[in-house]
Amino acid sequence: MEKLLIQNISQLVTSKGKSARHGNAMQQIEIQENAAIYIEAGIIEKVGNNAEVETYAKKNGDDFKIVNAQGKCAIPGFIDPHTHFLFGGSRADEFMDRLAGVPYLELLKQGGGICSTMQSTRDSSEESLYQSGRAVLNNMLKLGVTSVEGKSGYGLDKDTELKQLRVMHRLNQDLPISLQTTFLGAHAVPPEYKGNGDQYIDFLVSDVLTQVKKENLADFCDVFCEPDVFSLEQSERFLSRAAQMGFKLKMHADEINSIGGAALAHKLKAISADHLLAVTEADIQALSSGNTIAVLLPATAFCMRKPFAPARKMIDAGCAVALASDFNPGSCYTYSIPLILALAVISMCMTLEEALTAITLNAAAAIDQADSVGSIEPGKRADILLLAYPDYRFLVYHTGINIVQHVIKDGEFLW
Ligand code: NIG
Ligand code: FE
Repeated sequence: MEKLLIQNISQLVTSKGKSARHGNAMQQIEIQENAAIYIEAGIIEKVGNNAEVETYAKKNGDDFKIVNAQGKCAIPGFIDPHTHFLFGGSRADEFMDRLAGVPYLELLKQGGGICSTMQSTRDSSEESLYQSGRAVLNNMLKLGVTSVEGKSGYGLDKDTELKQLRVMHRLNQDLPISLQTTFLGAHAVPPEYKGNGDQYIDFLVSDVLTQVKKENLADFCDVFCEPDVFSLEQSERFLSRAAQMGFKLKMHADEINSIGGAALAHKLKAISADHLLAVTEADIQALSSGNTIAVLLPATAFCMRKPFAPARKMIDAGCAVALASDFNPGSCYTYSIPLILALAVISMCMTLEEALTAITLNAAAAIDQADSVGSIEPGKRADILLLAYPDYRFLVYHTGINIVQHVIKDGEFLW
């Protein structure tokens, strides 16, 4: 059984708890100097000052490895709770069109957007999807992401949706990153069902979802609730059926237009409502009164030249806010955690402490994993980052730069 003592950590910074922090409580992080962490079999056993942790570690002998973390800051591994990281092809041409003024939903209406990636994903072999997904996840690990959520949604037919989910399961087994999977068959209406969104929803529920359940391929179900994509009624019908089948729920809500998506997520007790660029005052009130996490995606707003989600307002109203990349080939071709932190703190006026909670503990809650990851505390998995500086403020002060020097996943140094 692997045992590890990390000593002389100049600064250990973490939120605490096994569930999301709401509102003001997002600011409360613990900062310890000259700290140590003792890990056994991938689980954090003890956190405290150097002397007390060493005494604890020695209670059963001294057959543990010691690492000196002098000059470094330890924080929990980052968690990215919203990505579409597995797809075929790319859409650089559309990115340039959007910069030239073509609206995102217009491209989708013309058969491009999500449907263009749908075609290239249908055309991709399982092996090529596996290889490109593997490359992305390895890059994410280098940025300090130790848990990630990945969505299907680029097949929009039974075979390709299942192919995406199966590839994600292989990647979860083969790589040290922890992966939660989401079925997003309701990402767009495919050409085969053009004008027949209702029938497509029926097909998803009766045919695809049953197979996803049978093979236990997804933890969550999600829907792109947006005018001209899936209406509020269609979203509710789909998500209610998914909940009856035992899936946990997520929602792409109020990204471009406000149609009450966040309120629906709240009503259905979804684990998260994501995007929320166009969220209303009433939606904020609804979210703040429940446990649905507001997952904000600042890099998407930035890449779409849209105003950011009102993070400050949401936190001040008592919402539990998490941050994620939304990495996808259309609206946001980046999974840069340094960029996301910079946008959250500099442009959205979250404090650095709130942003850190949002990308660790609250992000863990957004994938329903806050009981096992998201903070550096006894009982949690030892997913820990050592930064190249002894001060967590460099996470944003060193703007846009990756300062993660060492990544520890389940108690093992990846580098
Ligand atoms: O979260 N909005 C819907 N889905 C993605 C974009 C997908 C795409 O354009 O390929 C998003 O932004
Ligand atoms: Fe998304």
